[in-house]
Amino acid sequence: MKLTEIYWHLRNDISVIEKELEQNIGAKHPILKEASTNLLKAGGKRIRPVFVLLAGQFGDYELNEIKNVAVPLELIHMASLVHDDVIDNAELRRGKKTIKSKWDNRVAMYTGDFMFARAVELAANSKNNEVHDIISDAMVEMCIGEVEQIRDQYNWNQGLRTYLRRIKRKTALLIAVSCELGAVAANTDPETRRKLKMFGHYVGMAFQVTDDILDFVGTEKELGKPAGSDLKQGNVTLPALYAMEKEPSLKTRIIATVKENDLGATEIESIISAIKKTGAIAYSKQFSDRYLEKARHSLADLPDIHAKTALLQIADYIGSRKF
Ligand code: IPE
Ligand code: IPE
Ligand code: MG
Ligand code: MG
Repeated sequence: MKLTEIYWHLRNDISVIEKELEQNIGAKHPILKEASTNLLKAGGKRIRPVFVLLAGQFGDYELNEIKNVAVPLELIHMASLVHDDVIDNAELRRGKKTIKSKWDNRVAMYTGDFMFARAVELAANSKNNEVHDIISDAMVEMCIGEVEQIRDQYNWNQGLRTYLRRIKRKTALLIAVSCELGAVAANTDPETRRKLKMFGHYVGMAFQVTDDILDFVGTEKELGKPAGSDLKQGNVTLPALYAMEKEPSLKTRIIATVKENDLGATEIESIISAIKKTGAIAYSKQFSDRYLEKARHSLADLPDIHAKTALLQIADYIGSRKF
């Protein structure tokens, strides 16, 4: 099922969120305004606000309160992408030039900070202090996750645990928090909130593992950026970890060739195909599927409302997504 079909019954609320995003990304300064608006208009799945909307339906759904968390969460996500593209030295995002490549790293740094600040400003519209605590904790953890990514770049000796801890911080946490804050904004009971957060955590882990698989198997058109970017940028992800463990000679080759100086396209392609031959993609897919199974299981005791069906459909979508 396509995301647009899953989102269909939410379309009115999503368009409210979209309008708020547009209004709030506007800055007085022309560069900040242009840089932020470009990224917003380039699209994106808006999966975090959707998780907020769906989780909110397990309680007293009040769009005015829900949007106080849904809009900041997408802004935090976007800010983290702007910063991530600096760390990863990425040229393309959502099919368009990244802010760091269209302007430079310094502009990207402040555009990201501007988005973070706007997120905090909007979250302050919620009078619930718990919302503020959860959002600021998530921002702290995400910073740690990205700094860990810098530390771990080109470290081919890192283990599975290091990888999992990093993706938990940089990706799974914000998705877990999206589900949790939907529940908090709708005043659900604590058990429902805990289950929704757990669902978000598992889905978030699967989401990043899938993103890492797609970097090996996707096309530039699907990804909105060149395939093989992770390897080139020295981001050691699950398929590479598996392949290096399985074939030490491949690990030696990767260590010898993938260095911080630019790597040629043919060299990258040849390493990617060697990694694929080890069965790394199927292994990683199984890994993601196990997380998705845990995610589905987390919802088992929740009432069978439409939002639950939609959350389960998103879990299925993540298991088979192509972009
Ligand atoms: C990209 O997130 C970064 C990851 C956490 C893998 P998304 O895939 O949600 O990015 P957009 O918002 O749809 O562009
Ligand atoms: C996710 O990591 C980035 C954040 C959570 C900020 P990636 O580096 O894999 O994301 P993409 O692939 O650049 O979108
Ligand atoms: Mg990146
Ligand atoms: Mg990626």
